[in-house]
Amino acid sequence: MTSQTDPSITIDLPLTREDPDVVKTEITRGLLGNPKTLPSKLFYDERGSTLFERICELPEYYQTRTEHHLLTKWADEIVGISGAEELVELGSGAATKTRVLLDAMASVDQLRYFVPFDVDETIVRRVSEELVLEYPGLHIHGVVGDFLFHLEHIPEGGKRLVVILGGTIGNLPALAAQGFLSSVNSEMASGDYFLLGVQLITEPRRLEAAYNDSQGITAKFNKNIIRVLNSQFGSHSDAESFDHVARYNEADHRIEMWLRSREDQTLDIQDLGLHIHLKQGEEIRTEISTKYDRSLAEELLAASGFAMVKWYSDPDNLIGLALAKKP
Ligand SMILES: C[S@@+](CC[C@H](N)C(=O)[O-])C[C@H]1O[C@@H](n2cnc3c(N)ncnc32)[C@H](O)[C@@H]1O
Repeated sequence: MTSQTDPSITIDLPLTREDPDVVKTEITRGLLGNPKTLPSKLFYDERGSTLFERICELPEYYQTRTEHHLLTKWADEIVGISGAEELVELGSGAATKTRVLLDAMASVDQLRYFVPFDVDETIVRRVSEELVLEYPGLHIHGVVGDFLFHLEHIPEGGKRLVVILGGTIGNLPALAAQGFLSSVNSEMASGDYFLLGVQLITEPRRLEAAYNDSQGITAKFNKNIIRVLNSQFGSHSDAESFDHVARYNEADHRIEMWLRSREDQTLDIQDLGLHIHLKQGEEIRTEISTKYDRSLAEELLAASGFAMVKWYSDPDNLIGLALAKKP
């Protein structure tokens, strides 16, 4: 099903056509595993996306403003090298930083298509409506899908630049990240460019502070996954019966977010027929955010079929932007 609002906007909705058993199986497998986990895409309903936008503005969350500065500095060069007329963003969210790239494309009259691709339908629609007003003549083909399953919904276009920003790649374990980027690579034409934003390994204190903000917004975001289980999968748990926990796992160079049960309780997820007993203090892992360095990023790109062309990073080495090409 494709839905059309403005003639310049097409929204493709593969997620709503997805066999609902797919996500149910992911949840079930995660909650029956050891450790117990939940897929982090479940954070992102309308409330979750809005909370993530607030996280991006937090003083402790240095990642967004650093990536924004880097893009501002290098967008003209990136757009010049890529020669792209179509920008595809996987996990596009509010596409705030994306505007820097869209501006650079527009300034050399290269901007034709934008493809925002995200699991949250509300944000894909909002961004599409905002951007057609901001960039007259721009065509938008939004995809409401899971980028691990629905990449074939990216429309055929002209010369493309595919981007993944915001540390989204770090939410996947190493092997899954490589599998995902290999699939991205197969959807691209030879000569297309790929821009990957990675969060770099830095002091654990700085990393942990970024996920334990003093206003408690990250805690609300983390607990939103319980609200999503309630609203979409028929459970009735109290999000406040969990504490937010975020800590750095040095061996795997990643931040892990967990929900720690404040009491003995049972997660009854009606639609899945699941009854998960949790002891007081027991934890469910809701997200990993893997940190990279330049060589890890280059290896990941090479293993996924890309050749790195340029590496950009800030003076404090907090964020890396790898521009790569499909040979
Ligand atoms: C860390 S946020 C980054 C948002 C934005 N790109 C930025 O840089 O601020 C991750 C984004 O990816 C989306 N997302 C997470 N898992 C996804 C999946 N499996 N398929 C598609 N989108 C996903 C979320 O809805 C969210 O908008």
